[in-house]
Amino acid sequence: MENTVSEKKRIIHTKDLCKSFTTGGVEQQVLKDLDMEIYKGDFTVIMGNSGSGKSTLLYALSGMDRPSMGAIEYETADEETTKITGFNNDQLARFRRDHVGFVFQQNYLNDSMSALDNVMVVGLLKHSNRRELAAKAKELLERVEITEGDWDKFPTQMSGGMQQRVAVVRGVINSPEVLFADEPTGALNSQNTENVLNIMSDLNAEGQSIVMVTHTLAAAERGNRIIYLADGVISDELDLGPYVGNYKDESNPKIDEAKQRHKKLKDFLMDCGW
Ligand SMILES: Nc1ncnc2c1ncn2[C@@H]1O[C@H](COP(=O)(O)OP(=O)(O)O)[C@@H](O)[C@H]1O
Ligand SMILES: [Mg+2]
Repeated sequence: MENTVSEKKRIIHTKDLCKSFTTGGVEQQVLKDLDMEIYKGDFTVIMGNSGSGKSTLLYALSGMDRPSMGAIEYETADEETTKITGFNNDQLARFRRDHVGFVFQQNYLNDSMSALDNVMVVGLLKHSNRRELAAKAKELLERVEITEGDWDKFPTQMSGGMQQRVAVVRGVINSPEVLFADEPTGALNSQNTENVLNIMSDLNAEGQSIVMVTHTLAAAERGNRIIYLADGVISDELDLGPYVGNYKDESNPKIDEAKQRHKKLKDFLMDCGW
């Protein structure tokens, strides 16, 4: 088990990552000399108490925000090593477009655009062939059970769950090397949460690297690697192994393994002081 991580291909690593905010003349250090690695194909979950710096870390890793100090390097498929901490705003924007996708707690869909157009508008940043892109967008929407009759719907005509499914499709339309998600099910009811998590698990099973922040056990269980953040440093991590289905679902053929996995995660989090 100890060797599984080291055999994986590293896709992101950070060195001495620091982020501080100054409010009212008071400086708060949120990330403190953080060294970490993210591996290709992993579903990495970041947990930790509220205010521990999870979102701050995710925004730094994804190039949405800049750290105060330290380095973030990507080992992308097309380039050897890309140090995004040396980038200016334009370079960073281009890097995000070409390599990363996002899903947030709020779906941030454009209310004046249909489901399909919300996906297309992001796809067009990278794709020049509109017809090919539309075919890809429709295929992805169908995969999350948004069928032709719903493609023209505006966000206000969709349930919250459907909105978030559109947001996930938008997050992967440009085939990102890493999909980042910050509490993607934080605003959903339990059925929609399950649907969105199933989509994330399916994407990961097909090889999509995912880094997700969550504060719920049900979402964390989807990850194969759990990182626990406390006061701006990684206090512990768990190699949980791949998701084997719901531990409460009697029709799950791997229910025993799923139960063990659930217990392992719970024990780990208790040890972390969660
Ligand atoms: N833009 C900002 N300006 C000032 N303080 C911030 C900003 N973003 C985050 N913080 C502070 O950094 C700490 C960590 O925030 P955050 O990363 O959002 O935590 P988490 O996602 O783990 O709840 C909090 O104390 C928060 O108030
Ligand atoms: Mg947060």
